[in-house]
Amino acid sequence: MKKIVKILGIIVGCIVLAAVGFCTYVALTGIPSYDPPAAPHLTVQKTPARIKRGEAIAHILCIQCHAAHDNRLTGKAMHELPELFGTLYSPNITQDKKAGIGNWTDGDLKYYLRTGVRPDGTFAPIMPKFPLMADDDVESIIAWLRSDRFEVQASQQEAPVSEYSFVTKFLAHTMMGAKPYEPTFQTIPDSTDEVAFGRYMANGLADCYSCHSADFTKQSREHPEQSAGFYGGGNEMKGEGGKTIFSANLTFDEQTGIGKKYTKAQFIKAVKGAVRPDGSILRAPMGPHPTLTDYEVGAIYEYLKTIPKIHNDVARKNADAQLAAK
Ligand code: HEC
Ligand code: HEC
Repeated sequence: MKKIVKILGIIVGCIVLAAVGFCTYVALTGIPSYDPPAAPHLTVQKTPARIKRGEAIAHILCIQCHAAHDNRLTGKAMHELPELFGTLYSPNITQDKKAGIGNWTDGDLKYYLRTGVRPDGTFAPIMPKFPLMADDDVESIIAWLRSDRFEVQASQQEAPVSEYSFVTKFLAHTMMGAKPYEPTFQTIPDSTDEVAFGRYMANGLADCYSCHSADFTKQSREHPEQSAGFYGGGNEMKGEGGKTIFSANLTFDEQTGIGKKYTKAQFIKAVKGAVRPDGSILRAPMGPHPTLTDYEVGAIYEYLKTIPKIHNDVARKNADAQLAAK
């Protein structure tokens, strides 16, 4: 008996030592960086159609995090993310060669958007990665970043440097670290298969699941369906004026989800205009998505019908948070 206790003690001791060692390593090394990546050779065609598509995507994905008050992508403080991640700023991604990304190649940008690894091998722990976005759509974003649109014109203004918390460093060394670049070509699903197309729009492109699942730290970018509380909402974030807000449950659960709350037409209106059927406004960071088409949002609705229902009363949580803030 004594022997077993001793062996157990040694095992526990080793685990504790290893954990302490790993945490010290994380604290000392900070955000991991990698060998400079072998970015693909690529010249994106900057056709008007490409730029227009890229603009539509950027207006639901990139602008909300990178646009400063003047609407240029010079970077800003990321108040909407939980403080748990640190004091965060998005960088300048205008065409300026020094302050922005004017020196990056099209291939650098594609590699980065898929993996979060910059041309110099440093890693972006916070910005979402898009491993499931179709090649055409990634390249459309790149065409837009290179275009003559106002938002991306060179600006020398630089945002302050982020201070990442231990949690972010830890996650960047573990679950949220860089995944390999997959050179395989990915296409946009055929739009006649509404559910498959909606799944792509929601998970591969518009990133609806990351806010609408339970927890930013328990998600899989490669397999969104494995994310904790997939579309069950309740993910805590900061809204207007730094107030706590929980994302809505988008599963079709009758009581707590959108099953009974929204018809398809109402859902389309709500997502595009950020207004509920009763006229109430959807609060930040749920922004309006006016550049998505009715068909695209309708397909997301059809897809959401097919995922497992989760019973999670987020309206209640939000009401409680509002009371607590008073
Ligand atoms: C949730 C907020 C968020 C969204 C959405 C977002 N970004 Fe970022 N982006 C960041 C942050 C924060 C960084 C800094 C690195 C980090 O901390 O992860 C960053 C870094 C970058 C960089 C690296 C720039 C550098 O100099 O290091 C590029 C390029 C970039 N973003 C482009 C985009 C594009 C294009 C989109 C739209 C497809 C986009 N971002 C969407 C927050 C975001
Ligand atoms: C940046 C985080 C974020 C992203 C990305 C996001 N949402 Fe939301 N969404 C929220 C939050 C927070 C709320 C709750 C707003 C409120 O309570 O006023 C919300 C509310 C909603 C609602 C209202 C539900 C209800 O119960 O009334 C719908 C519908 C919705 N989102 C759909 C979507 C779709 C579709 C996408 C992708 C195109 C998406 N959201 C992307 C954060 C987000």
